[in-house]
Amino acid sequence: MKTVKQTRILEIDPLNPRLDYLLEAARVIKDGGVVVFPTETVYGIGADALNSAAVKMIFEAKGRPLDNPLIVHISDLDQLSIISIEVGEDVYRLAEKFWPGPLTLILYKSEKIPYEVTAGLETVAVRMPAHPVALRLIELSGTPIAAPSANPSGKPSPTSGEHVKRDMMGKVDVIIDSGDTLYGVESTIIDITRDPPVLLRPGALSVEDVEKVLQKKIAIPDFARGLVEAYEAIAPGMRYRHYAPSKPLYIIESRDYSNLERYCLQVVKHVKKLKENGLKVVVLASTETLNYYDEVEIICLGSRENLFEIARNLYKALRRIDELDVEIAVSEGFEERSLGLTIMNRLRKASGYNIIMVD
Ligand code: TXA
Ligand code: MG
Repeated sequence: MKTVKQTRILEIDPLNPRLDYLLEAARVIKDGGVVVFPTETVYGIGADALNSAAVKMIFEAKGRPLDNPLIVHISDLDQLSIISIEVGEDVYRLAEKFWPGPLTLILYKSEKIPYEVTAGLETVAVRMPAHPVALRLIELSGTPIAAPSANPSGKPSPTSGEHVKRDMMGKVDVIIDSGDTLYGVESTIIDITRDPPVLLRPGALSVEDVEKVLQKKIAIPDFARGLVEAYEAIAPGMRYRHYAPSKPLYIIESRDYSNLERYCLQVVKHVKKLKENGLKVVVLASTETLNYYDEVEIICLGSRENLFEIARNLYKALRRIDELDVEIAVSEGFEERSLGLTIMNRLRKASGYNIIMVD
């Protein structure tokens, strides 16, 4: 039976965070409870990372498969020595440049981290979030906080207080509502225990930026591009359906977006066919291309010149598909550089790999 909890909602302004609310939420973490909190990427659902009973409640609240490990959030580099037995030069170099921030590193775990957090693995995922509320919460709790994204398993990650209240009421002890998150897409995950390091999930930080600091290439497997499912043991959890709307979604991709007009005319052809089959369609388009489509619903993701904006709007757009009076969604594709890699990974996975290639 599912436990129904009395959820307390705390509205905390990130620019002027109320200490009494933060202390209250920190007390819940210390006492083994579950707290939804904002980060700069997406909202997380957190518990004391050193308390296996508390961590188990996260899985229950999310309906998350037990073999999908969690990210441990820290507020201070000193906490690395609690979490990991082996912290190399590269980790400190990356931490200095990108923490606090949207980079998650896979390290060898210490015995203090329970196997519930790592789903039985000898490695652990760690990051220091760049959100004042998250950092203060971890600090005041006096313990690292294990937290996956705060969505029910399989749904797009929550990027606003409204999303988490809709999804998590009655399932957790506290929800901290701090409004919209900055990036709107999850952290970049890199397995730094491997040589060369391996990208497990593209995210809010571009791979190119990480490579510059490491001064080496990062391996990008096909599953990190969202082209195939990851069955490999190195990327547990990546094989589960993610970020998906309930309605069918198709991604129309090209190898070359330099001639946008040529590309869009082909998307238009596909949309027309769907309409002729009597389907109500919505097109996920960009500011540069939305005028190519008429007599069809449009969700504008943002400008192709500003991939940050498109990444930020993506999960809201995926949720919007389900709210509109349409039966099927078609999304344009984007070039796979910088955050374009993250955007394409999420779109391809959200579509269940329903990819149509055009010239
Ligand atoms: O931005 C983010 O990363 C957000 C915020 C809340 O920090 N968190 C987040 O967590 O996206 P989650 O659980 O939705 O995604 C974490 C992924 C999991 O899918 C899992 O596959 C991977 O991290 N992961 C965790 N520990 C791992 C490990 N030891 N080895 C390989 N992958 C791991
Ligand atoms: Mg998630």
